[in-house]
This record gives sequence, structure tokens and C-alpha cells, in this order.
Amino acid sequence: MRILVVGKGGREHALVRALAESPGNPELFCFPGSDAIFEIAQSVDADGVESLVAWMKQNAIDLCVAGEESYLVRGEGLANLCERHGIPCWGPPKESAQLEASKEFAKGFLVRNGIPTAMATATATLDEAVAAIAGKYPTVLKFDGLAAGKGVAVCADEASAMEFLLEVFTQRRFGDGRVLVEDCLTGPEVSIFAAIVDESYLVFTPARDYKRALDGDKGPNTGGMGAVASRHLVSPDLLARIEHEIVKPTVAGLRKEGLPYRGFLYFGLMLTPSGPQVIEYNCRFGDPECQAVMPLIHGDLAGFCLAGAMGKLRADMISFDDGWSVCVILASAGYPESSRSGDAIHGLEKTGDFRVYHAGTRRNASGTWETHGGRVLAVVAGGNTRAEAVENAHAAADTVSFDGMLRRRDVGILNFD
Ligand code: AMP
Ligand code: GLY
Repeated sequence: MRILVVGKGGREHALVRALAESPGNPELFCFPGSDAIFEIAQSVDADGVESLVAWMKQNAIDLCVAGEESYLVRGEGLANLCERHGIPCWGPPKESAQLEASKEFAKGFLVRNGIPTAMATATATLDEAVAAIAGKYPTVLKFDGLAAGKGVAVCADEASAMEFLLEVFTQRRFGDGRVLVEDCLTGPEVSIFAAIVDESYLVFTPARDYKRALDGDKGPNTGGMGAVASRHLVSPDLLARIEHEIVKPTVAGLRKEGLPYRGFLYFGLMLTPSGPQVIEYNCRFGDPECQAVMPLIHGDLAGFCLAGAMGKLRADMISFDDGWSVCVILASAGYPESSRSGDAIHGLEKTGDFRVYHAGTRRNASGTWETHGGRVLAVVAGGNTRAEAVENAHAAADTVSFDGMLRRRDVGILNFD
């Protein structure tokens, strides 16, 4: 089987590794990929979605796996183009990927389908946004488009709200777009991933990510500074409730609204005192949750994704480990406001009972690894208990270093009683 994975970050490195470990030795390709990914997958000569899909056709690719969301909504859409060329794609078409690409679309979908979520108002100007906030703080402001996880601000007061609104409406930091003004929910967050194949679904191991830059959930929001995953993160009763109130109505809503879906769907949930509520959908696996979840999956992930892309949910092809997995992100100096590239990374030659996925690295002219982006590495280890996984992952993260390295020490620890 010849598989092409689309994306270049730590999530895609983890996906490529998991697919490579599937029985049947699939031949792997990645676009745009990274130096680390190209150690296990071949690179592709393309310069956009159209030429990528043409390349897949010419090179007899059996399955396209969408890692990163942006390609799903670029141009005609990755999955739409794959379908036109008869290439099975694990990832939804452009019209369905609006669930992630447009927060306003997602909010409408949630409300229409009676799925619990925070109340929100869409606004097109600074004045409209201020009127919608109506002096009620804290408030949540969301840019209505893809902003690489940085388009959301939870604002405690007017000053922070104005700062975000000026960034969006005056400085146009994310380009053109509206802002959703949303009620602020409280409670622990959990990320639920379902593989959706038309009207059927399979829930993967639940995870939680650590979005703030600093220990104690302090500092600015980031793309994610770590994650913890386990079947035991959510009780069986709560998981049943999440399936009944959120996952099933979502799958039914997609069918009802004529939105085809074959791929991973990520439910970002808040477990509020009145029950689980959706804060966002993403039409892909989470990053860094993927890095924590992949090592817990056994069986034939490649076969599972291919069957799914062809319309069959083959839950029998994979199984989930009963243990815990913890992922610690190592980020470069300045992240998330900026990042620093070119710092030499030490310790990558060490091996043990852990995995290191590369998010933002490159090989320099002398062949050694250096930083190349905000989030640099994801160090992942498991254990039978959370405490064991925490200890193993943080000890493994201690073996790697680079100048200016930023890291949280409470991943897997904070937000557990
Ligand atoms: P999103 O990109 O929509 O997942 O938002 C990023 C983060 O902002 C979430 O993980 C939450 O921590 C926070 N957030 C989003 N929506 C809300 C909300 N309605 N109430 C409180 N926090 C929120
Ligand atoms: N971990 C958050 C995300 O992937 O969007």
C-alpha cells in the first residue's frame, strides 16, 4: 500500500510513524513533510494541492491521509480533488471541513442540531463586538477562520478584549473575518477524537492538552505544550453521555445536512457543571494529542484508514492500550509570540522506552539537528498508571536540551485531583 500523509508537524511525524508500524509495511510519502519525517517517508515534488493530487494519481497512491487542516479547505479542497481523481482520502471534503474553518458555521451547526455549546453572537466590526460583549466579563472572542490555534482570546476584562479586537479588526492579524463573541464556560477540558465513516463512528482514546505556555496554566495560549491520553481520563458514564449528547447528534447532523465525512473529527469539549459542551470542532487529529494517542493504538492503523476512506468502519482492525501516555512539548525561545531557529539540539541520540516526534527541527549543513520553529519536539512515554507515564515522560524530556528551551513541568499532573 502506498500512503501519502499531508502535513509537516509533530502530529504528522506521529501519524507517519504509526502508519509505518502497521503490518504490511506500507510505502510512505509525505507533503510538505520535514527532515525528520523524510527519514521514514519519501518527499513529494508538488507546490500546491492541485499538483499534489496530480502527483498522487501519477504515482499510484492508494490512500491520502490529511494531517493538517489547511489543505482540506485550500482551493477546491484536498479531499474533493482526491475524490475527483478516484483516490481514497482520510479527511473530509471542503464543505464539511467548514466545521473547523469557520467558527460561525460550526456554531450554527451545533445550534441547529441541539448539541450543547456556549451561546455566541457573530460580529463584523469593532463596535458590533463591543455591543455584543455588553460589558460582561470574562468573555470569549474567536476569530472566524483558521488561525493556527491563535485566534481565540479568553478576556478577563475590557482592556484584553480591546487588545484582541484591535488586532483582528484594525491590524488584521489573521486577515479578513468576523469575530464570535461567546459566553465563557468553565470546567476541565477534554479532547475526544472520533473516526467517522458516513453514519458510523469509533471513539479513540480521550486526551487533554495543555494549551497555556507556562506551568499552572499561566501565560498565553499556544498550539499546545503537552498532552495526556488514556481511556481512564473520562469515566464510562461520562463517555456514554458525551457519545449520546454530542458525538451521535454530530454524526446524524452531518448526514442530515448533506455533509460527507470520512476522517478524524476532533471534539474540543468543556466539562461544565451542567454537562459536557462543545467549544470547537477540528476536522483532523489534535496536535499534540495525536503524539500522545498514537503510541496507545495497536493493530493496523493503515488498513483502518484505507477501509474508512473507502466507506467501511473497520473497528476490528485496531485496539487501544489500557494505559496512560504523556507528551511533553519542548518549544524554542520566544514561543508563542515568536520562535528561534538554529539552536543545536542535544541528546537526540539517546534512546529508551520513549518516543521523540519532531515538530520544528531541521538538519543543518553538518547533519546535526537544530531548532526550526516554535514547537520543536514532542517527547512521549507511557505507563500503566498516570503517575508512571508522567515520570517516564518528564524523565525522557530531561534527556534533550537546546538553548532557550521552554517546557512545562506539570503536563500530566495539573488538572487532576
Ligand atoms: P478553541 O480554538 O475554540 O478551542 O479555543 C481555544 C481555547 O480557548 C479552548 O481550548 C479553551 O481553553 C478556550 N475557550 C474556547 N471557547 C471557550 C468558552 N466558550 N469558554 C471558555 N473558554 C473557552
Ligand atoms: N491541541 C489543539 C489542537 O490540535 O487544535
